[in-house]
Amino acid sequence: MYKSTIPTGFPEGFLWGGATAANQYEGAWNEDGKGLSTAEVVKKAEKRTDMSLGNITLEDIEIAIADKTDENYPKRRGVDFYHRFEEDLALMGEMGAKAFRISLAWTRIFPNGDETEPNEAGLAFYDKVFETMAKYDIEPVVTLSHYESPIHLTMTRNGWADRATIADFNRFTETVFRRYKGKVKYWLTFNEINTGSFGFHETGAVDTGLPYDEQLQIRYQALHHQFVASAIATKQVHEIDPEAKIGAMLARMQTYPATPNPADVQAAQVQDELNLFFTDVQVRGEYPEFMNRYFAEHNVKIAMADDDEEILKAHPVDFLSFSYYMSTVTSAGDSEADALGNMAVGGRNPYLEASDWGWQIDPIGLRIALNEMWDRYRVPLFIVENGLGALDEIAADGGIHDTYRIDYLRKHIEQMREAIIDGVDLMGYTMWGIIDLVSFSTSEMSKRYGVVYVDQDDAGNGTLERKKKDSFAWYKKVIATNGDDLN
Ligand code: BG6
Repeated sequence: MYKSTIPTGFPEGFLWGGATAANQYEGAWNEDGKGLSTAEVVKKAEKRTDMSLGNITLEDIEIAIADKTDENYPKRRGVDFYHRFEEDLALMGEMGAKAFRISLAWTRIFPNGDETEPNEAGLAFYDKVFETMAKYDIEPVVTLSHYESPIHLTMTRNGWADRATIADFNRFTETVFRRYKGKVKYWLTFNEINTGSFGFHETGAVDTGLPYDEQLQIRYQALHHQFVASAIATKQVHEIDPEAKIGAMLARMQTYPATPNPADVQAAQVQDELNLFFTDVQVRGEYPEFMNRYFAEHNVKIAMADDDEEILKAHPVDFLSFSYYMSTVTSAGDSEADALGNMAVGGRNPYLEASDWGWQIDPIGLRIALNEMWDRYRVPLFIVENGLGALDEIAADGGIHDTYRIDYLRKHIEQMREAIIDGVDLMGYTMWGIIDLVSFSTSEMSKRYGVVYVDQDDAGNGTLERKKKDSFAWYKKVIATNGDDLN
């Protein structure tokens, strides 16, 4: 639409804040009736570059179930939000946060996933969390599934690979939509839904030991079940609470052609399509044509019920949220995939620097991602994860002088502002791990994202005391000036 004026900065009501996930943050993995989730059987990585999250077998899970400690499974302890939510939310209030993203642990509410009645203690916990957020005028942004499906469903039916999981999930979603009606305005369905094509953590479907390509049938079938469950959840929430909005959540994997060679450009385009396939289904309400060829070439046949396509079409999401940390390059040849990232491995970009974990830092890539997704979908966008995982040190003066984090955040926020001026409809920004929490990919504590430090080491030693880093005051000012003052 033509307009003779352009935005000058962030819109009024922009949702500044932070993001977390139950399985990395809450701890209390076996308290008050909670059941075991998929995240709580994934062992900590042996080394910093270990990306083997997808390779969980039934045997690994049996060993994990028999182990009743958190020693090898740091996500079981998180950083104890379960008992410290009042203190954490007071910090968010002090910061002036407008939004705080959490996820609901499905297993706190339905411990095995297939019960017919919810666990009241689990529901009551989140009541208290939402009431405390309301006290500070913080809008909850709530993920319904953040890598934490009930392990019982994996053991009994290979998780989302079985269609029966749709009904169980939608019993959970209906329960929480009714319970938290009027308290939660922003819901997200599946965290980084695209990562279900890599492995266990997203769909709870185990590694069968077959080569990756031969497991695609199970993975894409499980993802189809999640698409349908997401559409049903969208229908439910619109009926139960017409004020509420629900969004998809994608790990945006920005990639560039390694060279101007058309073969590289085309390879990068395919990578991009494989990434955007998920939001094509959730936002546009249908499978895109390009996937037909991919499925045919990989022997994937999606089994659909008669009305699945109708349900997908009738209930697209209201907005599109995504995580953005980095970018990679793609080449048509066999060049080495030597850049690491949040499950995306790709080529190294000589123009970019990388974090200590090898994730290539690319603020302009965020502007590109925002413009591309806005052009493609025309629904409001919401950055619900972004940030720098870094090793923080407590200085001799007792402070944590994380200028590198401020620098990372500033550069990304500058590019967000550029994208808004370009015309992108951006609702908000919740930086990842605003209070230090356990890393998803490696389960380390020393990979810190927060503007608030938590005293805990990789082995779980520490007082769990919260301490503001220098980035806290900086981010507070950014929020107070609605992004005008980034110095
Ligand atoms: C995203 C996940 O992939 O990246 C988060 O949604 C995760 O759960 C975040 O924590 C950062 O990844 P990591 O491995 O550094 O914790």
